[in-house]
Formats: sequence, C-alpha cells, structure tokens
Amino acid sequence: MKDNKIFDLIEAEKQRQREGLELIPSENYVSREVLEAMGSVFTNKYSEGYPGFENLDGSDDDVLAVAPENHRYYGGQQNTDKVERLAIARARRLFHADHANVQPHSGAQANNAVYNAWLEPGDTVLGMNLGHGGHLTHGSPVTQSAKIYNFVAYGTNPETGDIDYDEMAKLAIQHQPKIILVGYSAFSKIPDFERVAKIAQDIPGCLLMADMAHVAGLIAGGVHPNPLDHGFHVMTTTTHKTLRGPRGGLILSRGKVGNPLKKPEHTIENIPTLIDRSVFPGTQGGPLMHMIAAKAVAFYEAEQVSFQNYARDVVSNAKVLSDTLITHGFKIVGGGTDNHLILVDMMGSFGIDGKIMEILMDKVGLTLNANAIPNDTLPPFKPSGIRLGTAAITTRGMGRGEMIKIGNWMRRLAEICVEINSGRQPEAAFTSELAAIREEVHQIAEIFPVPGI
Ligand SMILES: Cc1ncc(COP(=O)(O)O)c(C=O)c1O
Repeated sequence: MKDNKIFDLIEAEKQRQREGLELIPSENYVSREVLEAMGSVFTNKYSEGYPGFENLDGSDDDVLAVAPENHRYYGGQQNTDKVERLAIARARRLFHADHANVQPHSGAQANNAVYNAWLEPGDTVLGMNLGHGGHLTHGSPVTQSAKIYNFVAYGTNPETGDIDYDEMAKLAIQHQPKIILVGYSAFSKIPDFERVAKIAQDIPGCLLMADMAHVAGLIAGGVHPNPLDHGFHVMTTTTHKTLRGPRGGLILSRGKVGNPLKKPEHTIENIPTLIDRSVFPGTQGGPLMHMIAAKAVAFYEAEQVSFQNYARDVVSNAKVLSDTLITHGFKIVGGGTDNHLILVDMMGSFGIDGKIMEILMDKVGLTLNANAIPNDTLPPFKPSGIRLGTAAITTRGMGRGEMIKIGNWMRRLAEICVEINSGRQPEAAFTSELAAIREEVHQIAEIFPVPGI
C-alpha cells in the first residue's frame, strides 16, 4: 500500500486486536474468508435493484443452477446476481424465513427500512425503553425515525430484569401500535415471543418485528429461539455481532415474495415486497456488493456444525464469566445471563460509575463499554453500569479457564478503581500492578490468536 499513514494505522489496529481481549458484546472477529470477500472487486459494481427471487429453496447448487430474470437497473450482473441469490438463500435457510433482504448497509438502515415499509408518519411503534436496554433506533428523540413516528416505550421489571409483559399488553391496548418491536442492545434474558404475539392478536394491523442484532448468531447456532418460528413477521439484525459477519444489516420476513418493481397491496402478507421496495429505492441507493459477498460467506460459515458449537460456547462462557463476577461481588442486572451479554451495575456493586471501570480496563487491554442500567440516575456518558460479552473471545477459542481469569482481573481492577476514585491512592500507586495485569492479558491473547490476521 502506497499510503503509509493508513497502512501504519491498519497494522497498529491489528496489533491492538491481537494483544487485547475484546469484551464489547457487539463486536467479533471475522474469518480471513470474510475479510477477503469484503476486499474483493465486487466493490466496483453498481447493482441497484434485486436479483430474481425464483428457486431460492434447496442447496447452494440448486440456487446456482438457475438464472432467473433480474430486477436490476444496470447491466453486467452475471456474478452479482449469483452472489446476492446465494446470500439470500443461505439467510433464508439459517433463519427459517420466506424472504431475506441482504442489502441494508447497517442495523439502523434495516430498522428504518422496516418502519418506512409499514408505517405512515405519526403511526405508533411500541418498543423497549432505551434506558432498559432498547436501541437508539427504537425511538431515541435524536433519531430521524423518532421525528417521523410516535414511539411508545415498555420497560423491564426491576425485580426480575425481564420484559414487563403486563405493561406491554396494557400499552398495546391503550396506544394501538402499528408495530410491536422486541429488540435490545443491553438485555440478557430470552424474550417470550409467543406471549408478545398473543398481545398483538387484539391490535388490528400490528406488525410483529424483532430486532435481533445482538443474538442473531445465537439464533443461527440454535441456542436462542427464532422469533420467526414464534409468530413474528419480521426480524432485523446486524451481521457483525454474534453472527460474525461483515458490518451490515439484514431483514428476514415471513410472507409472500413478489416482484419488487410492482407496488403490492399494504398487507402483512406482502411485507417481504414492501420491505424490498423500502430498502431500495425507499431508503438506500446501490447495494454494497462486496459486503453482500462477505455476508454470504459468513452465512455459509454459520451453517456449519462448528458454528453451532461456537454459539453454544458463547452462552456457556457468558454464564461462567457472569457467575465468576457474582462471586466477586459484582451485581449483574437480572441476576445473570441467558445469552452472550452481561450488564453489571458498578455503582450498586462498588460505588463507582461504569466509565471509570471502562477506562481502567482499557489500560490493561480489556475492552468493554460503560452502559446505562435500567432506571439509571447517572448521565449516558458516565452511566452506572458496564456491558460486556463473550462473542469475540469465544471466537478466539477461549473457554471456562479464561473466563475465570477475566473475572478475577476485573475484581482487582474494580478494587483499584475504588481506591483511586475515593482519593485514598493515586493511579500512579498502581502503575506496576497494572503493567503486570496487562502482561498477563497479552500472554493469554498470544495463546489464542485472532482469526484472519
Ligand atoms: C439492537 C440493535 N439494533 C440496531 C443496531 C444498529 O446497528 P448498526 O450500528 O449496524 O447501525 C444495534 C447496534 O448496536 C443494535 O444493538
């Protein structure tokens, strides 16, 4: 690469990833094959529109055996059509969907496309309270969608940490939402999709949407229920978290697949086509074909037995790490975890905010993020909690022993935070101890290389 500056930064980032342990629950390490597809010549190609959707059942070979007429606005799609058809077919198989739109550039784009497909301005969406674990795109006032639609929030029960389904049912009757949205960025229970589907039965024209950005890999790996198997019409996700693909979005749906060039009637049955038209041309331009190729590779990987083992290990590692932290006095929101994610109340556990812990952990090569806990009284930039997860470290092959080590380091780091925060000792007093922990983290990191680099 002639651009030395960018080259050096790429090398520095490789080193950072190699030497540290990634505990941010929304991150992962992709395979070399996914990286190669992302860096391929498909980035040169414009492919506005869609490939043909016929004959997407069956194996990859069945899908490649036919070349149906496409719905594209440019020529030269001999290869792009096949790439996108493979990505769609694999996503449909993985998530038991009638249709998959693999074009959203990100999870936020996927959510906005579904809103745009189903809602009119002013329509109501019932989604999870952002402070209780929902995502910005589920109605934060700073987003464009919150300016267009009316978001009403349900929350979690402070006793159990689980969704307050009774409150959801009451709010649904009161506000008659056009979408009930189950999805979250900081929640560690398994949602009761069937219960939500029952709540929606009495609300006319209510679309059931699940934003499974965080747990899509667990669903694909068979260790988390699939909302599409439990009455939901639409599932959105990112492809880069537990699913371990390139950065991007994906929309899966149940219903009748039609020609995206023809406007269908506005019915839940037609949601696949309404979504296709909403992604392109509704909310995006040309698809990123190199990213779609990389998504296809990631879906191929997620169909292997090794990925099922991976998903199982992500969940069991999260349980071991959560149990270790509990033993060390960390208060976990909801009392533990059922997925890959652990939300810790640092203020309630040690009287320190999450940001202090995040910064100290970064210094020893353990990366996680400060996060709000339900009903947090502290501001979002200095919230009471931290959020961590096991998707990335499990990809590196770590298991029970490493989870216990990470929990032990975290206990000592929390103690150091308390000392510094109380003013009893300056950070300088811990310089050599922090360097020693950093060295231990490096040593473990060396044993478990990052795939792809
Ligand atoms: C539940 C949920 N939905 C949507 C998104 C947005 O994804 P992206 O950052 O790809 O736009 C995220 C990202 O953190 C998420 O956690």
